[in-house]
This record gives sequence, C-alpha cells and structure tokens, in this order.
Amino acid sequence: MRRIKLLFGLLLAGFAVMVLSTRCEKVTFKEDVIDTTTVDTVVISFSADIKPIFSKCTSCHGGAQNPNLKTDPYNALVPAYVTPADSINPAGSIFLNWLETDGGHKPRTTTAEKSLIFGWIKQGAKNN
Ligand code: HEC
Repeated sequence: MRRIKLLFGLLLAGFAVMVLSTRCEKVTFKEDVIDTTTVDTVVISFSADIKPIFSKCTSCHGGAQNPNLKTDPYNALVPAYVTPADSINPAGSIFLNWLETDGGHKPRTTTAEKSLIFGWIKQGAKNN
C-alpha cells in the first residue's frame, strides 16, 4: 500500500514538472526579433497595420478555431490573448508568445509583422 502511494506521488510530481515546463516553453518570445525603431517612431493602427496580417491566418482561424480572426479580429484577440495592460511588457503577451511557438506558428509571421504587433501592443492594443 505504501509503495503504491509512493508511486502515485512520483507520478504526480512528474506530471507537475511536465505541466510547469510546457508552460515555461510557451514564453519564448524574444524582444531581439523586433525592429524597435519602427515600434517607437510610428503610430500603429489596428485596422491598417495589424488586421491585414491576418489574411495569413484565416484559412485556419476563420471559424471554429480560436481565435476567429475573420469576422471581428479585435474582439477575438482583446482581452483573451492580449490586454491593454500588456503594453508594459508586450513580449509577455499570450498573443505574441503564440506567434513564436515552435509548434507551427513561428514561421508564419515575418520579423516586420512581429515588430508591428509588438508595437501595437506597446502602444496599448487599441482598436484604432
Ligand atoms: C494551418 C493552420 C493555421 C494557420 C495558418 C494559423 N494557425 Fe493559429 N492555430 C492553429 C491551430 C490548429 C491552433 C490550435 C493550437 C495548436 O494546435 O497549435 C492554433 C492556435 C492559435 C492560437 C492560440 C489559440 C488557443 O487559444 O489555443 C493563436 C493566438 C493563433 N493560433 C494565432 C494565429 C495567427 C495570428 C495566425 C496567422 C499569423 C495563425 N494562428 C495561423 C492553426 C493555424
């Protein structure tokens, strides 16, 4: 009986480590992929600069797959994936971190696009 408890405990600990490590892997976004000159010198518009990027995404994110970036991309993203509070640390936003995950999304956006998204978040993730 004691052995079973011990085994169970080990299993649980292993699982906790697994969950924690996958959570840490998600935070992969590095500010060095960003062109900070663009970010700090121009006003970034959601409709003119960010929304067009999503034409690359809607083949998959145009319906059931969250976030739905086709019909109302702003409300699909804010506040579920990015909030105005992320302006303090855009690299920590869920949205940018998804774009940098190795599971397929990383190559989908260019450095320029990531810079725009970074800047948009830094400027308050506005619906402008
Ligand atoms: C080929 C299909 C495909 C394309 C194109 C695609 N995605 Fe995804 N995306 C997925 C799938 C499937 C998931 C679910 C999680 C996973 O399997 O990685 C996902 C997950 C996400 C998530 C997290 C959703 C959640 O809550 O779990 C975000 C945010 C996201 N994608 C954004 C984007 C953006 C922005 C683009 C365009 C630059 C994009 N995706 C392009 C298939 C795609």
